[in-house]
Amino acid sequence: MHSLAPGAIVRREYWGGLGVLINQGEFELDDKTTSLLRALKHTNNPAQIAQILQAIHDVRVTPADVDRLLDEATRSGFVVKDGAPRQCNVAEVTRQFVDEIADVRDLTFLSAPLNVSIYPGMKCNLSCQFCFVSQEKWDDDNIAYPLEQWIPVLDQIKAMEIPYLTILGGEPLLYPEIWPMLDYLDQIGQKTHITTNGTVVSDRVISELKRHPNITLKVSIQSLDDRHSLLTKGNLHKTLRFIESARSAGIDLGIHTVGLPDTVDQVYPLADYAASHGLNEFSMGVFFNINQVELDEFSLEEYRAMQQRTKEYITEKYGASLGYRLEGCQIWTAEPTIKWEWVPTTPFGILRSGCEAAQARLEIMNDGTLLGCSCSISIRLGAATSSRNPSSICGEPPNHFRNCVSSRLRITPVPNAATSSFVMAGAPH
Ligand SMILES: C[S@@+](CC[C@H](N)C(=O)[O-])C[C@H]1O[C@@H](n2cnc3c(N)ncnc32)[C@H](O)[C@@H]1O
Ligand code: SF4
Repeated sequence: MHSLAPGAIVRREYWGGLGVLINQGEFELDDKTTSLLRALKHTNNPAQIAQILQAIHDVRVTPADVDRLLDEATRSGFVVKDGAPRQCNVAEVTRQFVDEIADVRDLTFLSAPLNVSIYPGMKCNLSCQFCFVSQEKWDDDNIAYPLEQWIPVLDQIKAMEIPYLTILGGEPLLYPEIWPMLDYLDQIGQKTHITTNGTVVSDRVISELKRHPNITLKVSIQSLDDRHSLLTKGNLHKTLRFIESARSAGIDLGIHTVGLPDTVDQVYPLADYAASHGLNEFSMGVFFNINQVELDEFSLEEYRAMQQRTKEYITEKYGASLGYRLEGCQIWTAEPTIKWEWVPTTPFGILRSGCEAAQARLEIMNDGTLLGCSCSISIRLGAATSSRNPSSICGEPPNHFRNCVSSRLRITPVPNAATSSFVMAGAPH
């Protein structure tokens, strides 16, 4: 029998639907394909699916048509052939689909963000000179809501079918309830990523991480020499020990570096280190000098050139065995260079190609502040605005989160090229 592939996300959107296969891509779906795939969550009985499609879309489809379409869908990766027969209450699912369609029909923006980063606590044991967390904005490290108050937010992230959730901070491994939070995310089946400074290292941390194979992990590192410690006030050897202990325990992880002129000569050595330690990805982030610190910066053109060189270096030397990406939204990186043939023409293509940071992404700070992107308070770029709304974190009223998200996602389509995801050092993969 057919079923939806594990981890596949199929969301209703105003043009039809959005399908996400993590690590394999994002797909625009028409409304009938969306209903066909969403029906699989409830039933894999072709006759029942045919009834639902006929009722919703006023089309004539037979159970044999459904079977054929589902076979076709197995080639797309969204459908797998296994599992026992399942049946649903057709009238109930039909009603649910009618409501879903009514909910998104009049939108002109995504039904929910693609990426959400949460910052459950801002406490940190390092003091990186380049850190974008600023005193004036979100540095209240006394605020760390208990997991109980985050649960309604996590539930909404899951219910809204947000594919990419990232836990940041501060240092996320210092959030007092990080392990119960990861347990909860596992329990609800939410793909999650953590970016850590790799200095909270102990046998317990490694064994807890090992217990969560569904969580992807990235460690931030600036250089393989003294400059790492100078820039972060941390201890390079601790971070390397973290990476190596995690690898010895069989944990899959990647490394991330902020692209600074002071450590740019370390980009290739870091990529080599990642490859030689069997890490899954090396990424470099554009430096947002939000706190206006005295550090040299690159221009957008320089980032673009560096990106090109690093990509070539990694591809030539390591092929597909080491993933690489430059992280930073379109506005910040101006990468890739816009070419006519890349200008999208379909609804999701257009949405995705606007400033992804502001349109498709949401950050939830430790005090409940919702941001379109982490740069949005100090640098007000177009749609990127901020809204302080602690009640959304406290879970009342439950729909608040949805409303805030929606108002932030209204867009003015800008014809430009698609960017790689902007997630501040990582997203689930
Ligand atoms: C704010 S940190 C939080 C997680 C953890 N404390 C860490 O450092 O990995 C998330 C990521 O943002 C990066 N980062 C910090 N400040 C930045 C800045 N001004 N511009 C770009 N990336 C920055 C860090 O290197 C890290 O990879
Ligand atoms: S470790 Fe992360 S949160 Fe802490 S100061 Fe450095 S970049 Fe900022």
